Amino acid sequence: MTDTPHDVLIIGSGAAGLTAALALAQTKRVLVLAKGSLDSGSTAWAQGGIAAVLDEGDTFENHIRDTMIAGAGLNDRETVEFVIEQAPAAIDRLCELGVPFNREKVEGGDLHLTREGGHSHRRIVHVNDATGWAVQAALLKAAEENPNITLLAGQSCIDLITARNQQDYSGSGRVWGAYALDEASGKVVAHVARATVLAAGGAGRVYLFSTAPRGATGDGIAMAWRAGARVSNMEMMQFHPTCLYNLEVKNFLITEAVRGEGGHLRNPVTSERYMERYDPDRMELAPRDIVARANDDQIKRYGLDYVHLDISHQSPEFVMEHFPTIHEKLLGLGIDMTKEPIPVVPAQHYTCGGVKIGLDARTDLPGLWAAGECTESGLHGANRLASNSLLECFVFGEAAAKDILARWDTLDAPPEIRAWDESRVTDSDEEVIIKQNWTEIRRFMWNYVGIVRTTKRLERAAHRIRLLREEVEDYYGHFRVTTDLIELRNLLECADLIVRSALKRDESRGLHFTLDYPETSSIAKDTVLVP
Ligand code: FAD
Ligand code: SIN
Repeated sequence: MTDTPHDVLIIGSGAAGLTAALALAQTKRVLVLAKGSLDSGSTAWAQGGIAAVLDEGDTFENHIRDTMIAGAGLNDRETVEFVIEQAPAAIDRLCELGVPFNREKVEGGDLHLTREGGHSHRRIVHVNDATGWAVQAALLKAAEENPNITLLAGQSCIDLITARNQQDYSGSGRVWGAYALDEASGKVVAHVARATVLAAGGAGRVYLFSTAPRGATGDGIAMAWRAGARVSNMEMMQFHPTCLYNLEVKNFLITEAVRGEGGHLRNPVTSERYMERYDPDRMELAPRDIVARANDDQIKRYGLDYVHLDISHQSPEFVMEHFPTIHEKLLGLGIDMTKEPIPVVPAQHYTCGGVKIGLDARTDLPGLWAAGECTESGLHGANRLASNSLLECFVFGEAAAKDILARWDTLDAPPEIRAWDESRVTDSDEEVIIKQNWTEIRRFMWNYVGIVRTTKRLERAAHRIRLLREEVEDYYGHFRVTTDLIELRNLLECADLIVRSALKRDESRGLHFTLDYPETSSIAKDTVLVP
């Protein structure tokens, strides 16, 4: 038996990880790990807000229907109901933590609700256009003040510790924590715990252009897969229609709320408001997959570098009040959005697929729970509805904590775990290989596994992945780990999972659009990969 200083290990300090930590810390000692800084995940970057039914004219059924329409019927109805019905309580908890959501400008005003694509009602609570920053700060403050929570930045988890790493191998798939590279010392530490929650975010950086932060390399998904958990719907990669086109600033999002508050998409050459051709009823507020494909089509058809997003017909006061962060950022780049259109392109934005979990946030592996963007819970189906993602983090972070507490007495104390073995590796002599392979993966994923796919391009990608896998495994086997190497190995694993899933789906549905199978089958089926 190992005497561990913590009861539960949480990998990830974003919305999902910290929600779980705060709920568990009422009775358990919790260790939260982050790669890089504690606010380095996507949570801090979220702009638009959090979806919840809070308006009298709105209903749970409306939100459920919008979610299922966006998800092209691949969603799991029970999960959708589970999440949406808990949304108002999740917003209440955030208000209690001090998140300063915008309110209507009257004495004691209700929360201000903005609108985004795919939503039939105004139902997005927000903090101006920088909601994630406020949410991350409030969660971190509460966690820092809680004596039962230890927050440890600069820990790049390499792999989950499973029964294979026990001194006496038990043959079970039980998870006992994770091995992590301490970024400051370069040493690998075994963080052992009775229960582990994976909340390590998405895999956006597998694509050349992505709105996601640098660390979104799918580490959680890859670690769980290697440990033996199923992953599903990895082909469902969401591309956001409006990422800023700028040669220096490559991944700045222009929130969908700009379209929600009246912004128009136009062809910069013809000035045409072209959504009329693609979705005349919903126009710029059609679900994201449709708008992203329309932008991509205009760019390819006219040989453009970008399309225009224009909200300059609204008053400058309105624009600056709703979008202060974006307005200021763009002014610094010489674009005044109150007077001129913003050049935008589609970019990868969200990983809909991931580690398969149930309503209790349990994975296939005993001792391992998961929550947030690294999971596939059944909520998003073939395309996530805008602002449903932070919501999923709060609901499943809480669900993981509840289930762990409910089962606590049945969870064994950890056995003796082997220390990380570095006896057969040396320092790398060719870091250039890592950089070259990173770029290569991200480029072929963008070109071959992007918004519009074909079987031939997917097979080309699969071939590249096979070649790179040999090189990366060889490198991993011989050299001491670095964060870059850990991420490269995980990016490649996720690229493989995405391509294999895409090749398995012989239809077009939601985010997966292939010219070889343009029709949608009558039966919606998850793509489940079994290790
Ligand atoms: P993250 O917040 O990404 O956190 C991941 C954590 O895991 C980090 O702490 C990271 O350090 C840690 N980690 C990763 N790998 C390792 C490792 N190997 N070892 C140790 N730790 C590790 N959603 C909405 O609902 N509304 C929005 O308005 C919205 N806007 C968005 C805007 C942008 C620009 C982006 C990129 C996303 C947006 N999303 C939005 C999506 C949403 O922000 C994310 O899906 C959500 O924040 C994910 O939270 P998470 O807790 O799962 O992961
Ligand atoms: C946005 O603000 O457009 C992003 C919202 C989301 O990803 O849910």
